[in-house]
Amino acid sequence: MDFPSLFRPGILSTRPYSPGRPIEEVQRELGLRDVIKLASNENPEGPLPEVLEAIRAAAETGNRYPDASCWELTRALAAHLGVATEAILLGNGSNEVLDLLIRAAVSPGENVVYAHPSFIVYRIATDVHFETGRAVPLTADDRHDLPAMARAADARTKLVIVCNPNNPTGTYNTEAELRALLAALPPRTLVAVDEAYCDYAVAADYPRSLELQARHPNLVVLRTFSKIHSLAGLRVGYAVGHPDLIAQLQKTREPFNVNSLAQAAALACLRRHDVVAQRAKRNREQLEWLAARCEALGLRVTPSQANFLLVRCPGAAAELAQALLRRGVIVRPMAGWGLDEHALRISVGLPQENRRCIQALEEILT
Ligand SMILES: Cc1ncc(COP(=O)(O)O)c(C=O)c1O
Repeated sequence: MDFPSLFRPGILSTRPYSPGRPIEEVQRELGLRDVIKLASNENPEGPLPEVLEAIRAAAETGNRYPDASCWELTRALAAHLGVATEAILLGNGSNEVLDLLIRAAVSPGENVVYAHPSFIVYRIATDVHFETGRAVPLTADDRHDLPAMARAADARTKLVIVCNPNNPTGTYNTEAELRALLAALPPRTLVAVDEAYCDYAVAADYPRSLELQARHPNLVVLRTFSKIHSLAGLRVGYAVGHPDLIAQLQKTREPFNVNSLAQAAALACLRRHDVVAQRAKRNREQLEWLAARCEALGLRVTPSQANFLLVRCPGAAAELAQALLRRGVIVRPMAGWGLDEHALRISVGLPQENRRCIQALEEILT
């Protein structure tokens, strides 16, 4: 049976997403007991006790289907963001929401513009759909080139995706730059701003994107509970957009796409939103410490607004990553994402994890 012949060309040419290696896999493979993972931009701090309690309580009714409408979570989120409940679509991570948007909005012959290198899922989600991605290179300082992205858009462009802050570079685009992009694009072109890391951003000119939606109903904002809220394993993300746009997307989602534990956990996170600022502050302190130590070791560091650092080492990043792995530290060489062979991404961990990473780098590099 020639299975490949059953599939669309876009599926055949797509390379699957390659996630950061799980701690357990590295432990098994290298016979190491103490392994730390700084490779998937997760929050190193676990869920709060109240959140764990909410998950436990929700598990008791695990025999029932979840609330398909995510009624309580949608209301709490709308109140928290100051938007209408109809402006919110919840998903199994923001990844699913992006996928729904592409599937629902982009027809054969239309295209999607995104930056490169950026979150690799944009390319995969577009390729498996209709092979219609247009990747626009970042600027020399590793930022989205929004004017070039506006120029790359044509009459067949249905969606422009902006990752802000950008994964894997940690760079950001300012509100003025985003406004200029929106002004340059026609209303029929949707603009999705992926703000998975927005809570970590400290730059004063980082966009207040939700405020731009009144003027630009084609602007969709994607956010997630996976990062600062520590729920990556539970999978909750969402889109905020014009109610008429969200109403169309709602039709395309699987009825029970956000499981009941995830709904309960996200709700509990919103009740303890006071911790977000403290978490962001701790992240920033650690990020700056890591950046300074990496620079002292001769690594070139790209300024980051997120919870990870892109560094460039003199030699091959894959070799450095392998040497770190042998010392029980998992990081991510980025050549597979289309970056140069020197690029390595290090997620911010707990203080002791960051110290261990720097210690290992010192052993290897000096
Ligand atoms: C830019 C960006 N968007 C989205 C995601 C995925 O978010 P979620 O866990 O909500 O699917 C990630 C995860 O690393 C990311 O880096």
